[in-house]
Amino acid sequence: MVILNSEVGNYIISNGRRYSYFAGNNYLGLAGDARIKAAVISAVEKYGVNFSASRHTTGTADIHLELESALACFKGKEDAVIFASGYLGNSILLEVLKGSYSTVFIDQSAHASIISAVPTNDTRVIFYDHCDANHLNHLLNQNRDSAPMVITDGLFPLTGEIAPLDRIFPVVSKHHGILVVDDAHATGILGEMGKGTPEHFGLGREERIYQTETMSKALGGYGGFISGNRTLTTLIRERSATYQASTALPPPIVAAGIASVSIVGDNPDLRLKLLEAAWHLREEIAGMGYRTTNDRTPIIPVIFDAPEKARGLSRYLEENGVIAPFMNYPVRKEMHQIRITVSVSHTGGQVSQLLDLLNKWKKKNESSKNQEGIY
Ligand SMILES: Cc1ncc(COP(=O)(O)O)c(C=O)c1O
Repeated sequence: MVILNSEVGNYIISNGRRYSYFAGNNYLGLAGDARIKAAVISAVEKYGVNFSASRHTTGTADIHLELESALACFKGKEDAVIFASGYLGNSILLEVLKGSYSTVFIDQSAHASIISAVPTNDTRVIFYDHCDANHLNHLLNQNRDSAPMVITDGLFPLTGEIAPLDRIFPVVSKHHGILVVDDAHATGILGEMGKGTPEHFGLGREERIYQTETMSKALGGYGGFISGNRTLTTLIRERSATYQASTALPPPIVAAGIASVSIVGDNPDLRLKLLEAAWHLREEIAGMGYRTTNDRTPIIPVIFDAPEKARGLSRYLEENGVIAPFMNYPVRKEMHQIRITVSVSHTGGQVSQLLDLLNKWKKKNESSKNQEGIY
């Protein structure tokens, strides 16, 4: 198990050894950014480490309002609300939208935070085949009596696939439904301005698409947020028990958010450089005959039909100084993978070392190209 003895950058120290790090979600390299650290230190000096109350009582500080306004501006929305974690975003949204849906249709590979967000007592849950708009349409046709809400990850965290909102949203609209996109991994990464998966598909202005987002991945910090019109944000502030009854985000985290939103907003080149580097790596990996996915994202799975192979490759990389973890929960029954994540701060030398090791392992362990290419 990786136990960190250092900050998370393109290298880490774990158990006293230095590793090249192709793991985690620090896509834009901001988790250890000097400007963000400086902002955090001065916030701690001014405010301490905790506001010690919920936002609803006496815990709202000027910097919470500043961060919410910066996020709203970044997203091009009227307002934004921040809360304790990205994981909670789906529960908060489903909590306050209660009454506008009766059946929830979920991508079968959806993140755990989506599944655990659905109120269990009076909501029907139906799973549609992964990224399959036709299957979703079929299920919606079979359930015409319902008020549908469809929920999917925007960028799937294990496979790096982008949910095909260009096919899903027309189906949702045809059935007068609501679409919720958990964009935890797409914020700051996808779309012309980094606003996420809806923007990537030119759907950024659709009123019936809601996004749940986090500052813990590309933004390098922590904490969840939802942006939208003031009706939605007021609903969250006034009706969400989760929002009202938990302690406000602490000063260092809020300061990190303000600094990172500004960096991401001012530097669209970071995102472009990342996607270019990740695409290059993905093509090289596929070219060796490994099985992977084919979207332009920083998450590159290497997929096997047996867990031992995936575990074996991850172990081999680790022995040779590279961390790319085996994911111990299969995406689907027959898919076992390691997950390589690219950060904009990776050097050419790190990429060459990774490719060289992948090449050597493949030659030693898989004589033919039996896994072949992109699926
Ligand atoms: C799709 C998805 N949604 C939500 C979360 C939760 O976000 P956070 O870790 O910021 O709470 C994660 C990851 O951790 C995720 O992958």
